[in-house]
Amino acid sequence: MSKKLLLKDAHIEGIRYFDVYRKQGGYQAAEKALKMTPEEILEEVKTSGLRGRGGAGFPTGMKWSFLAKPEGIPRHLVVNADESEPGTFKDRYLMEHIPHILIEGIIIASYCLGSNASYIYIRGEYSWIPDILEAAIEEVRNAGFLGKNILGTGFDLEIYVQRGAGAYVCGEETALLESLEGKRGNPRLKPPFPAVKGLWERPTVVNNVESIAAVVPIINMTGAEYAKIGVGRSTGTKLISACGNINKPGVYEIDMTITVEEFIYSDEYCGGIPNGKRLKACIPGGSSVPILPANLLLKTIKGEPRYMNYESLSDGGFATGTMMGSGGFIVLDEDQSVVEHTMTLSRFYNHESCGQCTPCREGTGWLYRILKKIVNGEGEMKDIDLLWDIQRKIEGNTICPLGDAAAWPVAAAIRHFRDEFEYYVKTPELAKVKPFGLAHY
Ligand code: NAI
Ligand code: SF4
Repeated sequence: MSKKLLLKDAHIEGIRYFDVYRKQGGYQAAEKALKMTPEEILEEVKTSGLRGRGGAGFPTGMKWSFLAKPEGIPRHLVVNADESEPGTFKDRYLMEHIPHILIEGIIIASYCLGSNASYIYIRGEYSWIPDILEAAIEEVRNAGFLGKNILGTGFDLEIYVQRGAGAYVCGEETALLESLEGKRGNPRLKPPFPAVKGLWERPTVVNNVESIAAVVPIINMTGAEYAKIGVGRSTGTKLISACGNINKPGVYEIDMTITVEEFIYSDEYCGGIPNGKRLKACIPGGSSVPILPANLLLKTIKGEPRYMNYESLSDGGFATGTMMGSGGFIVLDEDQSVVEHTMTLSRFYNHESCGQCTPCREGTGWLYRILKKIVNGEGEMKDIDLLWDIQRKIEGNTICPLGDAAAWPVAAAIRHFRDEFEYYVKTPELAKVKPFGLAHY
């Protein structure tokens, strides 16, 4: 059974409220941290090996150490709660059920970074959660953990909750900052990184909800103890939101030592695939990471078991970076059509493109239209190569990762399921008929 750090008290009735959270040891980490120096806290976070839980997996301690500290200029912590990656809903669960672990993490991180005004930017569709967060903030203020001179330490902090307006691209950190400043959420060119020029051109750290919540157990147990959980550079625990063709969709906390097979089939997690169907493919880390077919999901190319961690989840060297992504685990059984699934994602990315870069603005539209043509039974063989060509021209040629995120699912689908695309072209009348089994490849 995986060790639980973030969700260990999730089953306790009323854990959403300050008194209940406090009774379970809540805010002890904040009390401890406020007696430490910011440098000591930073050292603990670095030692923990915590990597950003929003998707990029960038080391959190390193990000904090990049924060510029020019004399007389305020600094900010901004929590990215704009969780919009298809298949990802773990931050929603955390904020809805245990909001105080996020608020406590913000207090510790803000003190460490020297932020006296910190922000939670939350996606507009999570319309009921800002009220939960604001109620929690009010409780914490009444308990003396927010406001002026917190616990007599001389440290002041205000936390503000800002609602987004429903744009996926505002989850990209610089678009988020633009939106927070009251402008249209267009991503900025990086560098400069927010650590140097962020909110209102001030040094800013942008961290995901789960990353900030993880600081609480790190301070409670020490970074060294946190680093002992997990394996290699995948330290600590990770929240996974599991959905698709599984018996038990939901949010699970894993310690990154379990295999993908165990995660899908064990009763402790997804509980297997309904109706005895076979596993066809899975998107292990939210729609921006490539789809993996069953044979590569359960074993690596070298034949070793595939583990649920940053190192083991890769595309066999095809895609760069980790496929742990945002922890949005989407399972497809043998009846699902990868071609239709890819078309749905392309429609999404095309709709969400902000339109600043030509390859993304035009390319995502072309991807969607060609995929739609194939799904509608009007595709030609050359369309498959055209899709490949277009995605290659988007990847790496845009301001923000939305372009890459639109290109990679198409590339992975063609790489691993080309015969399914060809089947649609050759036998459009059959391709439209479900079930769409494993038989043709
Ligand atoms: P990134 O790799 O560009 O940056 C990671 C973080 O490190 C950023 O905060 C960046 O400012 C910081 N950083 C990197 N190099 C730095 C340097 N030299 N100096 C200072 N700071 C530096 O990735 P990004 O754009 O933050 O995230 C992309 C990922 O987000 C994708 O891989 C995807 O999985 C995920 N994603 C998650 C979503 C969600 O809803 N959770 C939605 C969409 C994408
Ligand atoms: Fe906008 Fe797409 Fe360019 Fe990102 S890649 S800045 S979403 S046009």
